[in-house]
Amino acid sequence: TDGPLVLGIETSCDETGVGIVRGHTLLADAVASSVEEHARFGGVVPEVASRAHLEAMVPTIERACETAGIKLYEVDAVAVTSGPGLAGALLVGVAAAKALALGLGKPLYGVNHLASHVAVDQLEHGPLPEPCVAMLVSGGHSSLLKVSDVTTGVEPLGATIDDAAGEAFDKVARLLGLPFPGGPHVDRAARSGSSVAIDFPRGLTSGRDLERHRFDFSFSGLKTAVARWVEARERSGEPVPVADVAASFQEAVCDVLTRKAVDAAVRHGIDDILIGGGVAANSRLRVLAEERAAAKGIRVRVPRPGLCTDNGAMVAALGSELVARGRRPSALDLPADSSLPV
Ligand code: KG4
Ligand code: ZN
Repeated sequence: TDGPLVLGIETSCDETGVGIVRGHTLLADAVASSVEEHARFGGVVPEVASRAHLEAMVPTIERACETAGIKLYEVDAVAVTSGPGLAGALLVGVAAAKALALGLGKPLYGVNHLASHVAVDQLEHGPLPEPCVAMLVSGGHSSLLKVSDVTTGVEPLGATIDDAAGEAFDKVARLLGLPFPGGPHVDRAARSGSSVAIDFPRGLTSGRDLERHRFDFSFSGLKTAVARWVEARERSGEPVPVADVAASFQEAVCDVLTRKAVDAAVRHGIDDILIGGGVAANSRLRVLAEERAAAKGIRVRVPRPGLCTDNGAMVAALGSELVARGRRPSALDLPADSSLPV
């Protein structure tokens, strides 16, 4: 196949990702995660993540090249996540990408982490539907975006005003005694529970809250409601019905997310919704999104779970689009920007 050979580096959180693509074809997606080192703290520790990136960077680059069956000098362009994310973690990736670009004499492309969560879908489903509404839900972000051009035209429609969706899953998992990261465990537990057993609150979905925050999310009230419910149960001495709590909580999150994503598409006259981020792996979210979108004649695209979580392939995918669309490379003094806007 043709297209430029692009190497992408991702270090915005706890995964060291190096991906290699040619055009829309994925050749390698090497990921080293420090998630186990963070597990005992119940969340990602920035300093631990930065050190882990530094240790993993060169071996992960080597592994990606081996898998892709290429030599580093064949790379046409180097792309890297320049933000948003953890400052120290981003710096490791940005420094490595600059060194590569400088050493190889090839262009450097700093990319936005959120836009690359969108671009990754082209590796699985081909050319991106533009315009589309993108819903990115992970442990670090929960955003609704209007994407008219993934390389230049990504407009935020809304975001969480407190916890990210994945963060809510992780905190509720902890309350239920499930391991970190909790999302997959809550998903699994929910399968044997009832989603209507407990009526948990849906934040920012009615009245003035909805008017003011039509496409924003709030999950901290939900998390508190789950905590209160579980505490009351424990006080009464009755066992906590883990599966029912998990299913009812998961339903509340997925209800709000899918309602707002479909509403955003309808109001903007857009026919495609793209879902990304770790929470996109949630089984109920996928089903409910399909169901509600189909009712409005809207299509839903979700990359496979391995491409939804943070990885280097997504950065390479966006880099490849930047090259293909003739966008200008970044300067070699590209900064890491922890709060980079889309
Ligand atoms: O994108 P990601 O790997 O990293 C960032 O946070 O940027 O997302 C990880 C998040 C965690 O909060 C994890 O609990 C959540 O995604 N997650 C899930 C599922 N799989 C992962 N949440 C709900 N259901 C899942 N099946
Ligand atoms: Zn992410």
